[in-house]
Amino acid sequence: STVVYEIPVVVHVVHNGESLGTNGNIPDAQILNQIETLNEDFRRLNDDASDTPTDFLPVAADVNIEFVLAKRDSEGLPTTGIVRVKGNQSNYTLSEAEALAANSYWPAEEYFNIWVADLRGDLLGFAKFPISNEPGMDVEPNLNRLIDGVYVDYAYFGTAHNADSFSKGRTMTHETGHWLGLRHVWGDGGCGVDDYCADTPAQSSSTSGCPDVGDAFSCSSNDMFQNYMDYTDDVCMNLFTKEQSDRMRVVLESSPRRKEL
Ligand code: ARG
Ligand code: ZN
Ligand code: CA
Repeated sequence: STVVYEIPVVVHVVHNGESLGTNGNIPDAQILNQIETLNEDFRRLNDDASDTPTDFLPVAADVNIEFVLAKRDSEGLPTTGIVRVKGNQSNYTLSEAEALAANSYWPAEEYFNIWVADLRGDLLGFAKFPISNEPGMDVEPNLNRLIDGVYVDYAYFGTAHNADSFSKGRTMTHETGHWLGLRHVWGDGGCGVDDYCADTPAQSSSTSGCPDVGDAFSCSSNDMFQNYMDYTDDVCMNLFTKEQSDRMRVVLESSPRRKEL
């Protein structure tokens, strides 16, 4: 049977001095519900798994990876796995990962670092790719372990109060896919460009919003816009595939990242 990997997580809430539970200093409940959503998605226990189209059910996968807030810090002392710190900048762009991570960081060999901050609404989140021999991982491998992890805007972390298209916590699912070596489902190119997973059909470009099944057809087949690695709305996403699962597990198995509690 497949081993379930349990990855210790630290969530760094990098705020602007707001009081606990307001704006960028998001409440614990929002962090806990994000970890729960992430686990549901990776174990295929999401309630909307039933929305996966019949044609894609044979390839839908339980990734058998779980995420657990750290119970010990790297000195062995008890922790909640949540660190709150006032940031050295009021907000951060994609190119300012170093500045953001410098506020708070735990050893990447031992923990999955998640930074929650104000990303200025320019982007929902971003991730650092692993160093891996998997095909397609030679593009932007992250050579700086001090920034290894994922970065999510505080307004899109967890089931957020704002009822917009990205309020179901799927940004974290998508970015964690990248952190474990997944490429976008359309391969960031046309029909001839691959995401290195044979069970995600070739797709000409990203999908946005939430089309009806059958309305997103390219490269001679229905697009798998329900995949977490597309750009659809959170309510529209509901699966990783078997080959995506295999790829993430191979990356984890060959990396120095910790995979047991
Ligand atoms: N990296 C993408 C962005 O920042 C994240 C897309 C997440 N999609 C979602 N439905 N939550 O735009
Ligand atoms: Zn992406
Ligand atoms: Ca594919």
